[in-house]
Amino acid sequence: MTDHQYRAAMEKLKKELAPSRYRHILRTVGLAKHLARKFKVNQKQAMLAAAFHDCGKYDSLQTQRRHIKIWKVSLNAFEKNTPALWHAPLGAVLARRHGVRDQAVLNAIRRHTTADSNMTKLDMITYLADALEPGRRFPGISHIRRLASRSLRQAFREALRLKMIHVLQQGNPLHPKALAAWNSMSGRQNL
Ligand SMILES: [Fe+2]
Ligand SMILES: [Fe+2]
Repeated sequence: MTDHQYRAAMEKLKKELAPSRYRHILRTVGLAKHLARKFKVNQKQAMLAAAFHDCGKYDSLQTQRRHIKIWKVSLNAFEKNTPALWHAPLGAVLARRHGVRDQAVLNAIRRHTTADSNMTKLDMITYLADALEPGRRFPGISHIRRLASRSLRQAFREALRLKMIHVLQQGNPLHPKALAAWNSMSGRQNL
């Protein structure tokens, strides 16, 4: 995707999204750019992944379901039964249709909600930028922000840990990919 296409895509988002959603995207892009510079990741890739990370979320669930069928978005059984998770794999397919061809960026979009094993630096930045952008508030966030000022891995691992604790406290099942991410971050990726 060229710079011109990127700017056009951002303009389109500005026009079409509710202001609160658009501001979330802008803040996520800003933090992704900052983290990419800090941890020596390509800033354009990080900004692109952040800009498109929620692009699968803007339609109703009914439309999302239709798009998943039409474009044969591959979902595992867990994802099929959890509509809140559809937008990440669907978003990767939609972003491709919008002109994003970089597979590393598409992977980061796909992994931004559940994470997965063997997260790349770009994947971790996208996940963290979404979770820590300045509009976010949750217990423990200041600690993760402090970690993110020195270690991408430690910050990501802590963000994932708190997210899994939250899921368990709500009595909800843990996504197998989140568990795989956790185990791979803890040196147990073959278990
Ligand atoms: Fe999302
Ligand atoms: Fe988001």
